[in-house]
Amino acid sequence: MKKIFLSIVLVVFMFRTYADEGMWIPLLLGEQVYKDMVKKGLKLKPEQLYSMNHSSIKDAIIIFGGGCTGEIVSDQGLIFTNHHCGYDAIANASTVEHNYLRDGFFAADKSKEIQSKISVRFLNRIEDVTQKVLDALGKTEGMERAQKLIAAQGSIVKEVTGGDEFKAAVVVSMFKGNQYFLFVYDVYKDVRLVGNPPESIGKFGGDTDNWEWPRHTGDFSVFRVYMNKDGKPSNYGADNVPLKPKYFLPVSIKGFKDGDFSMIYGYPGGTNRYETSYGVKLSIDINNPTLVKLRDVRLKYMFDEMKKDPATKLQLASSYASIANYWKFYDGETKQLLKYDITGQKQKTETEFIEWAKGKAEYENIFSDYQKNYEAWRPYATQAVYMREGIMGSPLLAYTASWSGLEQLLNKKDASKEDIAKAISNAKTARENFLKDENKKSDQNILASVLMMYNTDIPKEQQPAGFYESLFKNFNSIDESPYKKYAADVFENTMAFDGSKWNDFVANPTVAALQADPAYKTTMAFIKNWNGNYSSKNQAFVNKNNDLGRLFMKGLFEKEPAKMKGTYPDANFTMRVSYGNVKSYKPKDAVFYDFVCTLSGVASKYVAGDYEFDLPAKFLDLYKAKDFGDYIDKKYNDIVVCFITTNDITGGNSGSPVINGNGELIGLAFDGNYEALSHKLAFDKDLNRTICVDVRYVLWCIDKLGGAKHIVDELKLVK
Ligand code: ARG
Repeated sequence: MKKIFLSIVLVVFMFRTYADEGMWIPLLLGEQVYKDMVKKGLKLKPEQLYSMNHSSIKDAIIIFGGGCTGEIVSDQGLIFTNHHCGYDAIANASTVEHNYLRDGFFAADKSKEIQSKISVRFLNRIEDVTQKVLDALGKTEGMERAQKLIAAQGSIVKEVTGGDEFKAAVVVSMFKGNQYFLFVYDVYKDVRLVGNPPESIGKFGGDTDNWEWPRHTGDFSVFRVYMNKDGKPSNYGADNVPLKPKYFLPVSIKGFKDGDFSMIYGYPGGTNRYETSYGVKLSIDINNPTLVKLRDVRLKYMFDEMKKDPATKLQLASSYASIANYWKFYDGETKQLLKYDITGQKQKTETEFIEWAKGKAEYENIFSDYQKNYEAWRPYATQAVYMREGIMGSPLLAYTASWSGLEQLLNKKDASKEDIAKAISNAKTARENFLKDENKKSDQNILASVLMMYNTDIPKEQQPAGFYESLFKNFNSIDESPYKKYAADVFENTMAFDGSKWNDFVANPTVAALQADPAYKTTMAFIKNWNGNYSSKNQAFVNKNNDLGRLFMKGLFEKEPAKMKGTYPDANFTMRVSYGNVKSYKPKDAVFYDFVCTLSGVASKYVAGDYEFDLPAKFLDLYKAKDFGDYIDKKYNDIVVCFITTNDITGGNSGSPVINGNGELIGLAFDGNYEALSHKLAFDKDLNRTICVDVRYVLWCIDKLGGAKHIVDELKLVK
């Protein structure tokens, strides 16, 4: 009996591979992880993955814009990233006459590439600055520690960048403040749009298919990074030249099989895998549903206007897409957290920890303190989401909130004429920018709805004093909702929209004029209420959570040293590598999901004229003619459009290269699957999949659909 038991244990042990959980810092992979990568199919040496002295894959990986990843794919600075990462730049480059977002665009040569506002960052070096930061923090806690941390981070960053606008640095916390790392970047600010497929390809399936597999989206766009003549990073310049990169990724069009090795480099934005059961519960009960409910309304009113007019569609497209993206994410996250009882799973670990911590003074109260902290904050959590997603969800209110800096300055007795003139000039620019993106009709509806919802959902005693009394007194009506009338009045009378009122104000800026403005009055009523009564509660909650989190992690390292030594820190928008396999899965009983989908699948989803499932005529012609070129997958006798892997990624990884065992690009990661949307808080080792666009489809779209073979010719193809 004993013997059998022993051999079972051995077998299990021998076949145990690591789950594909883990977002590893490439510099600190460790032997254990590297060996596991090799076992899974990696053919490269560690120094090909990351090297301080030689060029390596890490040199081809960039931060693209504010929150995406991109990769260098040619010796002339060509960048691949996702369509949804380039979306804003594509929309900005488009007009109703030259609608590149709708129709697609490929620059015929370099002179036709379009200037963008995007900048990209190359990782220069990483340094462990734990001791420096911890020395600066001392034994402090709470607010004091939070402030000292900001100061310490600021001074390290300043020391490193010396104010050079082409250098950037961040000091980030690892393991909830138990370690600190410095990341230094070179910043290139001349990045041009080279090409993108029509939106019907790049966003095929829209929000219906978003966060889901099977998925048939050609989610890619192409940019190029330029440097100045001296080979240095620079701002846009007509005589700049394409970047000569340290390294670029070769591109494989050989395809892959189910089970093949896959590695993803990139910049995952944030996870909280050590979130407590209390945190999970707050997300499920309050944070997520409140966000979803408010975004529902904002999206509905935006969509109503976008449908009516192509110019409005272009104007709101980018903002709509980003609101919709995390609207669906948080809705899905709640469902998965409930389905897999993540609260219960977390409670189990916590019970074990509490048991272990008994009698250890430093740790024994962590979870009762967590409980108290959450109980103290819970009554105000809805208010916090309402401020962020509701009140600030009206673009007009968010914009007019920016006037408060002006008000402070005007109130200052010793403010100089120059200071005021400068502030007014900034305010003028801010207003122009606001008006460019503003759609009044949808915003007015959003404002009316949000004010109504706030009144319903926020307890009376938490509302701004007198606000609703005055609203009902002045806009009482049986014909129309008082909220609607109030919003109409704000939009009618604010100087944000009234050029002549605005000109009067900038000619003679006074506090009284600001305070009389109905939009400013509205936004400030809510902001003052928040600042006066809830902001300090929120900070206390966050700071206490940080203190407890730091201790909890420290305790875990003590409790399970071996396990924790081989673990990875939560994502924090620093470069990571994750590895796994191309892999099919079973999302539910009796259902099997293949690991690839094809052009035939795109065609079968086609709905002529549909907002999400339309296709360009040329696409259908090429498909009918089976004009697949070199990009065909012989097994399917079709183009493989997307595929899935077991890699551990999250938002921020969008655009990340999916790399095979030989270090060649096989696709671009662009999404996660619905069944594992709890991934920020808990990784699901069976169901988690990363959704990738196959690079062969990308090349087919560039070459066959876009007629831009010259771009493909720039790549180093592995056939
Ligand atoms: N879910 C994708 C991500 O977060 C973005 C997809 C954009 N598409 C869309 N329909 N909103 O990376």
